[in-house]
Amino acid sequence: MIILGVETSCDETALSLIDATGDISAPQFKVLATSLFSQAKLHAEYGGVFPTLAKREHNKNLIPLFKVLVEKVGGEKPVILSDIQKKEIEEILAREGELKDTFIKEIETINCPHIDRIVVTSGPGLEPALWVGISFTKALSIAWNIPVFPTNHMEGHILSPLLTDASAVTFPALALLISGGHTELVKVSSWGEYKVIGATKDDAVGEAFDKVARILGLPYPGGPEISKLASISRKRGDKLSFTFPRPMIHSGDFDFSFAGLKTAVLYHTQKFPPTTDTKKENIAREFEDAVTETLIKKTQKALEEIGSSTLIIGGGVIANTDIRKAFEELSQSLGFHLLIPSTDLATDNAVMIAMAGYIDSFKKTESNANFRAEGNLSF
Ligand code: KG4
Ligand code: ZN
Repeated sequence: MIILGVETSCDETALSLIDATGDISAPQFKVLATSLFSQAKLHAEYGGVFPTLAKREHNKNLIPLFKVLVEKVGGEKPVILSDIQKKEIEEILAREGELKDTFIKEIETINCPHIDRIVVTSGPGLEPALWVGISFTKALSIAWNIPVFPTNHMEGHILSPLLTDASAVTFPALALLISGGHTELVKVSSWGEYKVIGATKDDAVGEAFDKVARILGLPYPGGPEISKLASISRKRGDKLSFTFPRPMIHSGDFDFSFAGLKTAVLYHTQKFPPTTDTKKENIAREFEDAVTETLIKKTQKALEEIGSSTLIIGGGVIANTDIRKAFEELSQSLGFHLLIPSTDLATDNAVMIAMAGYIDSFKKTESNANFRAEGNLSF
């Protein structure tokens, strides 16, 4: 099945074409083409993602990125739209300024490749941003007469490691999702069957990285910046004279809380202003260690509780070298199977969305184009 995946939930505009085969228990995925634009640098001056800007940028970039994607695979000659199609498309795109002006003109110039199914993130995420991808795919579905289906961004993050490591997964598996908006432990009974067993009560772990970065005067997104400083401190090997809390580590449940840890960093910097690079690097390292230890302890407990021997980790924060290393060491010492995506599949992308669309295709065969953006969509 050839699937077009579209992702606009946050600050990445991403498109993918994949070829998915195999049964739901052993799916196989091959990437045919991708095109992605990250708006992160544009949002940096606001210190985080600014929804109106995200919407405007998705609107501006979707068609150019789509053309790049389709050119990579080639296709049949363009489709000429009927008046009825044009009217339906105009209604769908009424709220999308720039897309509305360009879609019809451009689509009649784009060679049409073979696609069986269009899949788009419908949530969770920023609703104005989600709507751009949703409106675009609904319009494309009418123009090219291909069914369109909504999918859950977090299911994408769970499936992301399967592209590079399709080796046997045993169920129930445990998934740890660590991104800018989410920190969740999810029991995976089979592909497509998910239950959240623990989640953050306040800030997500990526959000904590971003906020601590801001406290230290580092640009958005903060995760990679903190990671760089922490590794300098780690190499130097200074003995630190302070510690930050490991939140909820003994709470007996699988929930997390990172707001207190961020506040501990804030109070520390107010008391001892980090006036040198060395001081900033040491704070970054102790913060990263506190996060890593908390994630490791909670995940280990959840693995024992549900009796799982497969751990999947997804979301932007698993791009972090030291967190990856800590989980790799844990997997070697405890002997469980660890699935982690490559770094480009850890952060938001459309390959994982198309993969989630394939898993959904075993359950959802009838397309219903009435779906909406759901900012708080959960499993
Ligand atoms: O999954 P993602 O790309 O977007 C969401 O769905 O939220 O995750 C983005 C988050 C940001 O908070 C970013 O700071 C964090 O992932 N991140 C990292 C690293 N790279 C990205 N956090 C820690 N270390 C990194 N190397
Ligand atoms: Zn994400």
